[in-house]
Amino acid sequence: MAAASDVRILDQRTPQERDRPFLPGMGRTWLLPLYDVFTRLAGVRALHQRAVELAGIAPGQAVVDVGCGTGNLAFAVLAAHPDAQVSGLDPDRAALRRAARKARRRRVSLTLVQGYADRIPAEDASLDHVVSSLALHHVDDDSRIAFARDALRALRPGAKITVVDFGGPVHGAEQARQPAHGHRPAHALRHLPRLLRSRMAQNPAVARNLGDGIPALLAGAGFGDAREIEHADHPFGRITFVQATRP
Ligand SMILES: C[S@@+](CC[C@H](N)C(=O)[O-])C[C@H]1O[C@@H](n2cnc3c(N)ncnc32)[C@H](O)[C@@H]1O
Repeated sequence: MAAASDVRILDQRTPQERDRPFLPGMGRTWLLPLYDVFTRLAGVRALHQRAVELAGIAPGQAVVDVGCGTGNLAFAVLAAHPDAQVSGLDPDRAALRRAARKARRRRVSLTLVQGYADRIPAEDASLDHVVSSLALHHVDDDSRIAFARDALRALRPGAKITVVDFGGPVHGAEQARQPAHGHRPAHALRHLPRLLRSRMAQNPAVARNLGDGIPALLAGAGFGDAREIEHADHPFGRITFVQATRP
């Protein structure tokens, strides 16, 4: 008989953090109900699956998905490794509630933690992987640095962090129209006007990721071998897959 699914939502925010602002997944809280439909049409599921492949997660390992939103990257991890110990971290309670409902429907176990990227819910050197998709560009400068340092703290030596987000070489954004690794990301949205891509690239939050923004962030925190390991060209901009190892 299949093990019962264990789904819980924990609140790790301090009293001072109750009113701390954050940028929700769709930019506006009231747009959350559209998030899953929108990202599915935008081909984000393929990015999640690729991130899981690249992360190289092994059965039973402990994984935290930072900025998990409605849980889709966490579910991609669990689809590949049903016995992985997966937690999702996000400040958005409504998104976590959606993730919890989906986890129960799928009968998977998932711990969801309401909190911010700068405090990863794990003991020192206890995690096998930190993963994160499309979340870093929602996090402000100080918190990004704190996130990278805290990921280093929480990972065991030799463990990896895999970050998927807009970013990478600036010129790459407008060059290739074909995906670098062969999957065609986006269906109906593939023909969205170029304007959308350039608006996304001009977004100051996304700009922090451009160039070597994400590898430099991770290297600065003390990770080893921080680098882009793959990229995909999405209608909204260049998506970089960055990986680094806890020395
Ligand atoms: C575009 S969504 C990505 C959600 C999910 N990772 C995915 O790939 O579908 C960005 C997420 O980052 C979360 N976020 C915003 N600020 C954050 C912070 N300081 N720490 C952690 N997550 C944050 C948002 O609430 C939102 O769920």
